[in-house]
Amino acid sequence: MGVPCVRVPRERGEAARRRLAERDAVADGYEIGVEDGFLYVPLAPDADLAAIGERYEVVDREPAARATQTLPGDLLGVEPSYERLGDVAIVDEDDPERAAELAEAIVASDLPIDTVLNRASPVEGPHRVREWDVLAGQDTETVHREYGCAFAVDVAEVYFSPRLATDRRRVVGQVADGECVFDMFAGVGPFVVPAAERGADCVGVDLNGAAVEYLRRNAERNGVADRVTAIHGDVRDVTGYDNWADRIVMNLPHTAADFLDTAVRLAGDDCVVHYYDIQPDDDPYTAGERAIRAAAEPAYATAVQARRTVRSYAPHESNVRLDVRLTR
Ligand SMILES: C[S@@+](CC[C@H](N)C(=O)[O-])C[C@H]1O[C@@H](n2cnc3c(N)ncnc32)[C@H](O)[C@@H]1O
Repeated sequence: MGVPCVRVPRERGEAARRRLAERDAVADGYEIGVEDGFLYVPLAPDADLAAIGERYEVVDREPAARATQTLPGDLLGVEPSYERLGDVAIVDEDDPERAAELAEAIVASDLPIDTVLNRASPVEGPHRVREWDVLAGQDTETVHREYGCAFAVDVAEVYFSPRLATDRRRVVGQVADGECVFDMFAGVGPFVVPAAERGADCVGVDLNGAAVEYLRRNAERNGVADRVTAIHGDVRDVTGYDNWADRIVMNLPHTAADFLDTAVRLAGDDCVVHYYDIQPDDDPYTAGERAIRAAAEPAYATAVQARRTVRSYAPHESNVRLDVRLTR
């Protein structure tokens, strides 16, 4: 099967490669090809082909596998499962011996990974943070790149999931220049920062002081601090933004329904709410839609604009997103 590659005249190749690399869109495992005056840059499996296709020509090719790079699977003889967050690798391994083997292979591979962490608890508590076993290295803080934004994050102190990148991209892709965006559970800013990059005026709130500190730093790091207000506290106590928001992000699955009265208070006359939930696979949206209507009507008319499965959460349960427009 072919690999999507950006085809670009050779003289513009390095600039294109650098731009794609900044967005983590270049595939690790393939060589960049040169043929007939064109450079072929292979794209990563999770690259946003639609967005890239707007700027570059994308063609299918069979690029040569990168011979020089040794991956953890080459050392283990099987393809292991792990996530990457900057220079941290995250594994989910119950057997301590297998976990140690996996960590050793990851560190010995050519991947630029310094720290390997194993999940030691579920995401828990009001700050939605988990415990970690440090299998290699020691630094739980890293800088993770997502679609061109850089996020400093310490996974021992704050919530962050690289798995949600694609969904975040879909939400942020809807943000228009000049919008007022309110993220009620902002974490380190993975919605707020790219929304501000698209020209929105953003407010991000979080109960976790460490997350708010990272949010401020990340807004600065990405050059959007002038469009970001970061507030530490319970979002229910935030004042000064009633009837303000054109768009509200509610990424606190399990308990978002408890915050819908606050969302309605923050909503402007015409506002889209991105509501995340965890529900049974056989009926993932009814509960959320009912809760939103109960909180918003009759002051607002409600219209569901999108129902999306974000990812499987547990056997028979999914993490889903509802986009609902509230019109006063
Ligand atoms: C699931 S995380 C999402 C963070 C971020 N939106 C992301 O996608 O990475 C939920 C966040 O909500 C924060 N939180 C929980 N209860 C809150 C409250 N009452 N007010 C404000 N933030 C809250 C937690 O500290 C946590 O950072």
